[in-house]
Amino acid sequence: MPTMGREWAEARRAARVEALRARLPAELGGPGELTLEIGCGHGHWLVAYGAAHPGERCRGIDLLGERLAKCEAKRARRGLANVGFLKAEAAELLDALPADIRLAKVFILYPDPWPKKRQNWKRFLQAANLDRLARACPRGARLAFRTDHADYHAAAGEALAAHPDWRVLPGEPWPFEAPTFFQDLLRDRRDWVAERR
Ligand SMILES: C[S@@+](CC[C@H](N)C(=O)[O-])C[C@H]1O[C@@H](n2cnc3c(N)ncnc32)[C@H](O)[C@@H]1O
Repeated sequence: MPTMGREWAEARRAARVEALRARLPAELGGPGELTLEIGCGHGHWLVAYGAAHPGERCRGIDLLGERLAKCEAKRARRGLANVGFLKAEAAELLDALPADIRLAKVFILYPDPWPKKRQNWKRFLQAANLDRLARACPRGARLAFRTDHADYHAAAGEALAAHPDWRVLPGEPWPFEAPTFFQDLLRDRRDWVAERR
């Protein structure tokens, strides 16, 4: 990207992070521990999870307003006060997260696999975002990742194994089974459950 274009994109990103910083304390419900689903899509999974874990404060984020409206409708139908959804890009949300809100559990279910070699850099689970997650998570926090995509699964496993702040927990059972829109579509399940060291 030419320098002017990069500077402009960086300035726009910085403005979005600032705006998020102002919104997050209220939208995430104030200080404390949070269960976060990144890329919550149509919300099936987090609504089921939140209903089964009424003592956890759960938030789902996604880029697409249309999907988030469906998430909110599902939440409202179940009357779940512990669940909420917001529009945010995941890395930006992690950069804007208030220091007194800690991510005790993070779920990433069927993230976009960016299957072409030249697009692999766009995948969410990679070293820079594991750094961001590590800063947001207390020791012992769990990160659960599921995909149908063999190559993304392998690459995510390598990134976790190489990262000093994360430890893969081999044989750890998947924390909570419930359908997701893409799981129903794709069927295959390849998981990693990791712990913040
Ligand atoms: C393949 S869909 C999976 C949705 C859902 N987890 C499921 O299993 O049905 C990936 C979702 O992640 C969202 N997404 C992609 N990149 C994101 C990002 N950087 N931050 C937040 N959401 C993102 C997309 O908008 C999309 O809804």
